[in-house]
Amino acid sequence: MSALLHLCAWINDSSIGTRIRESDNLFSAIETVHVLGIVLMAGTIAIADLRLLGVVLRQAPTSEVVDPLVRITWLGFAVMLSSGALLFWAEAAKLYGNTAFRIKLLLLVLAAANAWIFHSRTYRRLSEWDTATATPAGARIAALCSLALWSAVIVCGRAIAYQ
Ligand code: HEM
Repeated sequence: MSALLHLCAWINDSSIGTRIRESDNLFSAIETVHVLGIVLMAGTIAIADLRLLGVVLRQAPTSEVVDPLVRITWLGFAVMLSSGALLFWAEAAKLYGNTAFRIKLLLLVLAAANAWIFHSRTYRRLSEWDTATATPAGARIAALCSLALWSAVIVCGRAIAYQ
C-alpha cells in the first residue's frame, strides 16, 4: 500500500472523518456550504474576468471593479478550502483513486498559478491601463484562462460523486 494511500486511509478512518461520513446531515450540510462558497469565489472572479475581457462594466476603471471584489474572493476561497478539506476528510480513502478529484486538484494549482502570475505582473502595471476600455493582452489571456480553469474545477467537482 503506498504511503499516500495509507495516509488517506488513516484520515478516512479518523474519528472526525467517520463522524462526518456516518452523520445523517453533516456531509450534505458541508457540501451545501461548499457549493454556496462557489458564489462568493467563482462569482466574483467571473465578474472581474468579464471586466478584463471588456464584456461588462467597460466604462468603469478596472480597479473600481476588481479591487472591491478581491476580499470577497478570498473569503469565498477560504470557505471552499475549509469545506473541501472536511469533505475530503470524510471520504479520503475513496478520493485517493478518484480521477475527477485528482484532475480537480491539478486544475486548482493551475488556476492559482494563473491568478498569481496576473497579479504579480500585468496587474502590477495597472496605472498604465486602468481607465482603458480595452485591457492589455496579458490581462485578457489571464481572464480567459481563469474562466476556463475555474469552470473545469467546478465540472470536476461535480464529477467526483459519479466515479
Ligand atoms: C476552491 C475551489 C473549489 C471549487 C470551485 C470546488 C467545486 C466543487 C463542486 C462544484 C463540487 C460538487 C458539489 C456537488 O456535487 O454538490 C465539489 C465537490 C467536492 N469538492 Fe470541491 N471545490 C473547490 C475546492 C475544493 C478543495 C480545496 C477540496 C479538498 C481539498 C474539495 C473537495 C471536494 C470534494 C471531496 C467534493 C465531493 C463531494 C462528493 O462526494 O460529492 N474541493 N467541489
